[in-house]
Amino acid sequence: MSRLDSAIRRLQAQRLCLDEAAVLVEGRPGHILEIGLGNGRTYDHLRCLFPERDIYCFDRRIAAHPDCIPDDGHMFLGDLANTLPLAAHRLGPAAILAHADIGSGDRQASLDLAIWLAEALPPLLAGGAVVIGDQPLPNTAWATLDLPGGVAKGRYHMYRAKPA
Ligand SMILES: C[S@@+](CC[C@H](N)C(=O)[O-])C[C@H]1O[C@@H](n2cnc3c(N)ncnc32)[C@H](O)[C@@H]1O
Repeated sequence: MSRLDSAIRRLQAQRLCLDEAAVLVEGRPGHILEIGLGNGRTYDHLRCLFPERDIYCFDRRIAAHPDCIPDDGHMFLGDLANTLPLAAHRLGPAAILAHADIGSGDRQASLDLAIWLAEALPPLLAGGAVVIGDQPLPNTAWATLDLPGGVAKGRYHMYRAKPA
């Protein structure tokens, strides 16, 4: 598979999983966490899927398209090690969906960050929240969800936190 094919499949998988997550949380209250704002592509898709919900974004720097930069009240700027605890304090356990798109060119560093994230996220999650990510997010308290049709196993990852 060419790198172009691989990039297209990753983006298609992201969109399919975000769309599926929107169905899974429909009618359930809570805000959205976008962990890894990057250039704002998935944030923009989340805005389309959830026009009525607050979406809180995280990144160590702003590098998003100018149209895809959240206002200051919805942006946690800095390393996740600092901003996730801050967000937990400010927002409490009220996110109904968390999307983590944190992968970098360093595969092992991405996997390690995801392992840490899976342990750091629960104070931010409402009962039964959906968690999806580009990396495996190993938390034994979460159930692994089936991926939507068209997404190859291992390309994206979907979980549901324990109900409250
Ligand atoms: C793959 S990009 C996100 C792409 C984005 N979701 C999009 O659709 O445009 C990953 C982002 O995670 C951020 N990131 C990775 N590790 C981080 C950390 N420890 N703290 C804060 N941000 C981090 C990077 O700065 C980068 O912007």
